[in-house]
Amino acid sequence: MVFAVVDDGRALLSSRVADTLLGAKESWTRRMFEQAAQLRRDGGGPVHDLSLGNPSLEPPARWIRALHELLDDPAPGMHRYMTNAGFPEVREFIARREGERFGLPVLCGQVTMTVGAAGGLNVVMRSMLDPDDEVVVPTPYFSEYDHYCANASARLRPVPFGPGFGLDVEAIAARLGERTRLVLVNSPNNPSGAIYPAEQLDRLAETLTRANAGRERPIFVVEDSPYRDLTHDGAAVPSMMERYPHTIHITSHSKDLGLAGERIGYVVLSPRAAGTELLARAFAFCNRVLGFVNAPALMQRALPRVLGHADGRVDVEVYASRCRRMASGLAELGFDVPPPRAGFFLFPGLPARLRDEDGGDVALTERLLAERTIVVPGVAFRVPGHLRLSMAADDDAVDGALAAFRRVCA
Ligand SMILES: Cc1ncc(COP(=O)(O)O)c(C=O)c1O
Repeated sequence: MVFAVVDDGRALLSSRVADTLLGAKESWTRRMFEQAAQLRRDGGGPVHDLSLGNPSLEPPARWIRALHELLDDPAPGMHRYMTNAGFPEVREFIARREGERFGLPVLCGQVTMTVGAAGGLNVVMRSMLDPDDEVVVPTPYFSEYDHYCANASARLRPVPFGPGFGLDVEAIAARLGERTRLVLVNSPNNPSGAIYPAEQLDRLAETLTRANAGRERPIFVVEDSPYRDLTHDGAAVPSMMERYPHTIHITSHSKDLGLAGERIGYVVLSPRAAGTELLARAFAFCNRVLGFVNAPALMQRALPRVLGHADGRVDVEVYASRCRRMASGLAELGFDVPPPRAGFFLFPGLPARLRDEDGGDVALTERLLAERTIVVPGVAFRVPGHLRLSMAADDDAVDGALAAFRRVCA
């Protein structure tokens, strides 16, 4: 049978997905990752791939042991369905830990186990957003937020960053409108590696408290924090949980335990937030109806055996020292490299002569690609004139990339 409207297959897709996949909107990170895969398939030597934040450090030995113990001595029903929010005893454990972290009496009922931080973000957005509701987000931001917001038919409203990639609280205040439901903050930040200082979070809390006066419902802060336990100096990361009641904290162990493929994270509702009981019910419901059903059972069970132990985390110094090595090489070439405070990304600013060239960061990305070096241009994060380089790569890729930068920028 011949179908008149099936040409390139576009007609088979929703227009939203077709526009994204076949238009210019497909994520730069994903596009560059595919370019790297193509180069590898074509052969011709090593590819220096700094595009994806795929943790290169293996999970800690304690986690492997925990899995062996669980499988060797399985509790009955360990692999069955559970309540959509997760195993109560695991949520209890997480609630205790998060409560201590934030100095708040977090209850088991305020924790929802999710399929990574990405699952948590989608669950929260689906639970709280109506079509055309607005989510204010400071730049630079993780580009998947565009898609998560689109999943909820809501609108992402980016705002410029402040000095040092900090928060520009006045810019956020100016962006708040009648339809604003959420302010989405990501600290430590992907891609900049910045940690939003306590003083800026205090001002954000004051601003939102003022903006809430006269509203029927408060603006919520969604704090996305999967890099919080990967600070390079071991310092604690200031949180909105400590300063603004209507906060939802989301994290995962994709990065600090190197478990990105295992998909384990959680959403923690501040006990001081409005409507916690109904919100928690909504999060469990959306975990179900978005098709996640629940976070992976084995991963949930492993967490209490790993978290809080000195050997229950990857060695962040490996990422930090690669960041320092790359940063000093780039600084010699005239890049402006703000030292990341956490995580494994660098977000260097191009030297003025390269920034002012046609295409700036995109043109440089292409020139590096010709040298078999894969990076993501700053436009992907709404901050042109920068590149994002992932140091969750092996040392050879970092050295090869640095040599390519020297050839291209000489
Ligand atoms: C800022 C940010 N949020 C969320 C995620 C998604 O993390 P997960 O793998 O836990 O879903 C990432 C992953 O790179 C990220 O960088």
